[in-house]
Amino acid sequence: MKTLLTGGAGYIGSHTAVAMLEAGHEVAVVDNYANSSAEAIARVEKITGKKVALYEADVADKERMMEILKAEMPDCIIHFAGLKAVGESVAMPVEYYRNNIDTTLTLLECMRELGLTSIVFSSSATVYGEDNVPPFTETAPKGMCTNPYGWTKWMQEQMLTDAAKASEKGEDWKTPLSVVLLRYFNPVGAHESGLIGEDPQGIPNNLMPYISQVAVGRRDHLTVFGDDYDTPDGTCRRDYIHVMDLAEGHVKAAEYAAEHKGTEVFNLGTGEPYSVLEMVKAFGRACGHDVAYEIGARRAGDVQDSWADASKAKAVLGWEASRGIDEICRDAWNWQSHNPQGYTK
Ligand code: NAD
Ligand code: WQD
Repeated sequence: MKTLLTGGAGYIGSHTAVAMLEAGHEVAVVDNYANSSAEAIARVEKITGKKVALYEADVADKERMMEILKAEMPDCIIHFAGLKAVGESVAMPVEYYRNNIDTTLTLLECMRELGLTSIVFSSSATVYGEDNVPPFTETAPKGMCTNPYGWTKWMQEQMLTDAAKASEKGEDWKTPLSVVLLRYFNPVGAHESGLIGEDPQGIPNNLMPYISQVAVGRRDHLTVFGDDYDTPDGTCRRDYIHVMDLAEGHVKAAEYAAEHKGTEVFNLGTGEPYSVLEMVKAFGRACGHDVAYEIGARRAGDVQDSWADASKAKAVLGWEASRGIDEICRDAWNWQSHNPQGYTK
């Protein structure tokens, strides 16, 4: 199968490129390097020994996307491209809505004009909002997002679902669309080679890259955001999923999309919650020394508990996560310790 990964030079996209190539699929990548570099794709090629067709472009640029998609005519588009920092989205909502919504609208217009049929979309557990009780099933209420980033995901899910519905009726669409919405929980870890991994710019927003940078000496200590939650150790619990498990979920999702029509939504998580302090301790085991931390105030907008009911992906896609937190921390440390400054070496 021919696949095109928008945002494929990014963290999840580059790992998915590896999994796709290893499953025997062809991969093209479109990225504007807003939050990544072409070096990630050079390393994907090194890991797999296979070539990636790489295009530098803004996915919201319709003229350019028409050229690229005409040249590639992919069987499936996997749409990772987007801005993803929750805090930044509160400060820059216009940029977030413009970028995230426009990229999806442009892709849908191009797909309609070219008769392309299948798209897998990077959604997020953030669409479940704060009032649900875990484990979250795909049918849990969504659309109570706490920040503009979350709303862009919610809106993109809706746009894709509506387009798939309209395409079934023909009208302007040459063929019915197949849409797969993937709601990721907390993607972490790195490819086991240590050649690719998460490379956040500036101060990391997320827990695992922050822990990794403390462990490697780039930062002094982690601040744990609150230890007075109603959980066994007082810290929040999340569903941390190894990025290669997530990547393999995309292979299954793209294969599924190629054979079905309409819209399907899947949680991609492990179903196993771990607390902040459990992750800090697991990382200490992996790197061989304690990770310094201090307890701080709660972070605004954090939910206490979030984890997936991942049974639908198992039943329908035949996918389930197989890597645990010790592999997550081992691989994150392998990446961080061999690339202390990320892709800049
Ligand atoms: P990332 O920032 O590493 O990757 C996103 C990629 O998209 C980057 O390479 C960036 O340069 C590119 N990009 C952004 N806007 C673009 C545009 N207009 N045109 C072309 N390229 C563009 O982030 P990631 O962690 O790999 O996330 C990938 C997707 O998964 C995003 O849509 C994100 O919202 C979603 N997601 C991520 C997480 C997470 O915790 N990492 C969780 C749930 C969902
Ligand atoms: C995890 C836990 C923090 C940093 C975010 C987005 C979500 C999705 C995944 C894209 C929480 C605690 C963190 C730190 C800490 N992304 N923490 N100190 O908030 O679950 O989800 O990433 O779709 O939309 O919101 O992930 O890694 O930021 O936090 O104590 O310096 O670690 O309070 O309990 P989160 P996270």
